[in-house]
Amino acid sequence: MKIFVAYATSEGHTRKIARWAADRIHEHGHSVELAPFADAMGLDVGRFDGAVLASSIHAGHYQAELAKFADKNASRLGKMPTLFLSVSLAAAGHDAEDWRGLDRILDDFKSATNWTPGRVVQVAGAYMPSEYDIFRRFIMRRIIAGKEADADLDADHDYTDWSALGAELDSWVAQIIK
Ligand SMILES: Cc1cc2nc3c(=O)[nH]c(=O)nc-3n(C[C@H](O)[C@H](O)[C@H](O)COP(=O)(O)O)c2cc1C
Repeated sequence: MKIFVAYATSEGHTRKIARWAADRIHEHGHSVELAPFADAMGLDVGRFDGAVLASSIHAGHYQAELAKFADKNASRLGKMPTLFLSVSLAAAGHDAEDWRGLDRILDDFKSATNWTPGRVVQVAGAYMPSEYDIFRRFIMRRIIAGKEADADLDADHDYTDWSALGAELDSWVAQIIK
């Protein structure tokens, strides 16, 4: 099968996740095309058998390129197996209000684009002070300090559970080849 993997990122963590997902799907013997949404606007989604779309959340919203792509291709995406990887720091914790926020962000996205992903995985992202400007560093330090009292605020930290993500991808692939 031919699978399209697309992503939108600010600090690069979702690109890392999308590349990793593409490799994983390829290991199952499928052919994979990987691209950032910004390079995929004119793409014919109909030539793929399935699609994995990934975006990080910043300030309560998915990346604008994801919304543009999903809105433009909603009808084709709706006819094929799809997996949406929603990447955030809220998904790294167990705060009920944070998780309700993730549901709200996803609902807003679905109504704005008219696309409902076949399957959604909430993926814990990364804290990356090495990539932040002064403003972002200030905000993110406060958020992380509020969640984890003994966190090293100067060091990048990857919260992604790669083995859980691998299991989700394997299960999605198994489901679409049935
Ligand atoms: C300026 C900024 C705003 C963010 N806003 C949110 C947010 O509203 N909710 C959330 O759960 N995570 C938020 N995050 C965390 C990111 O989703 C997380 O760091 C993710 O790994 C970023 O992925 P990317 O490098 O692909 O953009 C924010 C991060 C930054 C730097």
